[in-house]
Amino acid sequence: MKILGIETSCDETAAAVVEDGYKLLSNVVASSATLHAAYGGVVPEIAARSHLEVITPVIEEALRVAKTTWEEVDAIAVTQGPGLVGSLLIGVLTARTLAIANHKPLFPVNHVQAHVFAVFLTETPLPGYKLPTKPPQFPLLALIVSGGHTQLALFKNLLDYKLLGQTSDDAVGEAYDKVAKMLGLPYPGGPSIDKAAGKGNAQAIKLPIAKVDNTYGFSFSGLKTAVLRAAQGASGHDYTFPSTKLPAALTEPQKADIAASFQHTAAQTLVSKLEAAARQYKPKSIVIAGGVAANQELRKQASKAFSAPVIYPDIKLCSDNAAMIATLGYYLAINGQKPADPYSLEVKSSLSM
Ligand code: KG4
Ligand code: ZN
Repeated sequence: MKILGIETSCDETAAAVVEDGYKLLSNVVASSATLHAAYGGVVPEIAARSHLEVITPVIEEALRVAKTTWEEVDAIAVTQGPGLVGSLLIGVLTARTLAIANHKPLFPVNHVQAHVFAVFLTETPLPGYKLPTKPPQFPLLALIVSGGHTQLALFKNLLDYKLLGQTSDDAVGEAYDKVAKMLGLPYPGGPSIDKAAGKGNAQAIKLPIAKVDNTYGFSFSGLKTAVLRAAQGASGHDYTFPSTKLPAALTEPQKADIAASFQHTAAQTLVSKLEAAARQYKPKSIVIAGGVAANQELRKQASKAFSAPVIYPDIKLCSDNAAMIATLGYYLAINGQKPADPYSLEVKSSLSM
């Protein structure tokens, strides 16, 4: 069974073909990140316009790489939410049109849940992918960390999961992006912080781990403010010093120390909750997915915390992609999910897990 996946929830326009929920036949991603770089964050209107410009060629390329004709596509899966409403609309309207024109069943997919499904891809003819050799076992504990979400979920089975906790304010990736902006590091901030931290001392600045009521809840806005105060202090100014002037007021070694200390604390926050959940639920596998799963400090701390290896999607499947959407779409299709009405399917920008 071949599923065409379509993803447009943020600034990546993506299409992919996945066969039988494990074989990755194509994974095409066009990002408008460089267009947003000048603004230091995703501009919704620019993202939506970029999706509109490239979505048709991206889908055609996904089918071409997968050597798949429309006749061979069994179903279409599309991100319904959560995400930017204008961006989601382009993907959903395109998927609806293609489903009607080609007489294909259409499956709406939850983007956050789909991030976990990237680890079910175990085979590909495509070069340059490092995939797990076998699918993960259940119960599966999943930490989903990206620019838009920070969720800890327990999957009893493929489609039977419960949300254990999530962030009450900023997503962890958002905190990486904002700290990077504060330090004048290039957008997207996560990889920039990761790189700068390599030259810094993670113990240089003591930062707080937020206390939240829910055992498995997260909060990152306090950490972000603590970093701002530390940066203002390091630059020799007080809390009134504008954050926009910090990049010029800090030396490179100071920036590296702040980046290293910040990501050390962010990773510690994530790993400590993951450890607590693992103690309580004794999962057979632990998965870390989403854009921030690429973070080196997070991987280092997670590998120290658990004796069994933590499972990560290939780096190209950590950030937003349509392969994870197609994979979840496959499991919905084979588990009796009723396809959506292609004439009326709507986006759900604040869909929760
Ligand atoms: O999953 P994703 O591509 O999009 C969302 O759904 O948000 O995640 C993007 C996020 C951004 O915040 C980016 O800065 C972060 O993932 N990110 C990283 C790294 N690579 C990407 N954060 C920390 N370390 C990295 N190496
Ligand atoms: Zn995502």
